[in-house]
Amino acid sequence: TKYTAIVLAAGQGKRMLTGRNKQFLIVDDKPLIIHTLSVFDQDDWCEEIILVTNEKERFQMEQLLADFPIQKEVRLVDGGAERQDSVYAGLTAVENRNVPVFIHDGARPFVSRKLLHELAETARGKKAALLATRVTDTIKRKAATRLETLARSTLWAAQTPQAFSYDLIKLAHEEAKKRGYYGTDDASLVERLDHEVAIVEGSYDNIKLTTPEDLHKAEAYLSNQRKGKVG
Ligand code: CTP
Ligand code: MG
Repeated sequence: TKYTAIVLAAGQGKRMLTGRNKQFLIVDDKPLIIHTLSVFDQDDWCEEIILVTNEKERFQMEQLLADFPIQKEVRLVDGGAERQDSVYAGLTAVENRNVPVFIHDGARPFVSRKLLHELAETARGKKAALLATRVTDTIKRKAATRLETLARSTLWAAQTPQAFSYDLIKLAHEEAKKRGYYGTDDASLVERLDHEVAIVEGSYDNIKLTTPEDLHKAEAYLSNQRKGKVG
């Protein structure tokens, strides 16, 4: 199953507290975004890579792609103010609308090829699928003064990639735009169309590098990978 990857890198990385977009941070030996792009570069099933960047960083990103070459063509697209706007910009640049489109955070460098393939197969059949992990903590909801405990067996932590048939995700985004709705992921926009979204059980290794602590986790992961313990 072939697929297109839209990789999002147009955020500001505020919670990383380094004063610049975290995508440029050197993790181990290369910039974070290069780690992520390499995953898709090395997967034969991925036939198109669209990289969504902040227009102010476009030149820097082009420099990076020159310094750390990716074999496949990487098409740069200007992102928007919110993640959802960036996804939409990426969607309008997709060429082959007959294969599943993967939407992936540039800040998630450790997704495995096995899971990418499982996701692609599932998305081809179900039209909407995401990677998610079971929640291990007990999750509480706080409303006013009362605390409520949610049934853990029903809870999933959403990750990316999330994969969709092109027409479905385009429609979901257009509908959200029309209603002024902003969701924190893409599956939520499809859920609002009452369309089923399939879960592919993912891995706890597929972390999103969000805070400075995550950098330590990333270094540890890469060091284990070198020793052949993971990946
Ligand atoms: N993203 C994007 N366009 C935006 C906002 C976010 O392409 N307007 C991307 C980020 O670059 C990131 C992914 O969406 O790869 C997930 O977002 P997040 O982890 O929140 O990254 P940032 O928004 O960059 O970080 P922060 O929220 O801490 O500022
Ligand atoms: Mg953000």
